[in-house]
Amino acid sequence: MAPYHPGERICTDRLKLRRCRLNDAEAIYDGYATDPDVTRYLGWAPHTTISETVSYLENCESEWSEGRGFPFVIESSDQDELIGMIHVHPGGRRAGYGYVLRRSAWGQGFAAEALRVLVEDALGHPDIYRTFAFCDCENTASARVMEKAGMEREGMLRSYLMHPNVSDEPRDCLVYARVR
Ligand SMILES: CC(C)(COP(=O)(O)OP(=O)(O)OC[C@H]1O[C@@H](n2cnc3c(N)ncnc32)[C@H](O)[C@@H]1OP(=O)(O)O)[C@@H](O)C(=O)NCCC(=O)NCCS
Repeated sequence: MAPYHPGERICTDRLKLRRCRLNDAEAIYDGYATDPDVTRYLGWAPHTTISETVSYLENCESEWSEGRGFPFVIESSDQDELIGMIHVHPGGRRAGYGYVLRRSAWGQGFAAEALRVLVEDALGHPDIYRTFAFCDCENTASARVMEKAGMEREGMLRSYLMHPNVSDEPRDCLVYARVR
């Protein structure tokens, strides 16, 4: 059986997830990568030049080609606009996730819709037994996204991840998972 490898396009009722490409840089840079409200609980500082966004997408390209990770852009089906990204991190019998949306797309259930379809896709593969994600202990919206995607809270990982926009020390994080 081939290792888990999601398709390059996945649709939901309101969204299109597709493999990201280098020419998404401008939409990502203009849409959210420079926004400190968006990056607050992420592992990276807001981008200050578009070349940072391009480098990020170059890494994404290698990850996907080598099967190390599957970064998707999220587009709204009705307007064909890039509204964010969701990243699948496969590893052993598990798949992990990270996601981000531009501010104007918050509060409409889009992140949960994107996460749920990818979680169900992964759990449909015979190799994958566990899907999981982490969020900063103060990132209540993200914790709720994981619950809405069918994950359950497993606990708090103390001093677990660096979120440099809130602290220069590792932060307590919540871990959620959905298993077969
Ligand atoms: C976290 C994020 C992805 C959520 O996306 P979203 O599409 O707005 O999320 P949803 O609309 O699916 O759900 C958000 C839920 O959190 C709730 N929520 C939002 N802000 C909240 C807050 N400050 N306190 C409590 N609940 C909150 C909403 O009410 C909603 O729950 P509900 O549907 O039960 O009412 C988005 O805010 C984002 O991109 N943030 C910046 C990047 C980030 O933090 N990514 C996650 C890293 S772990």
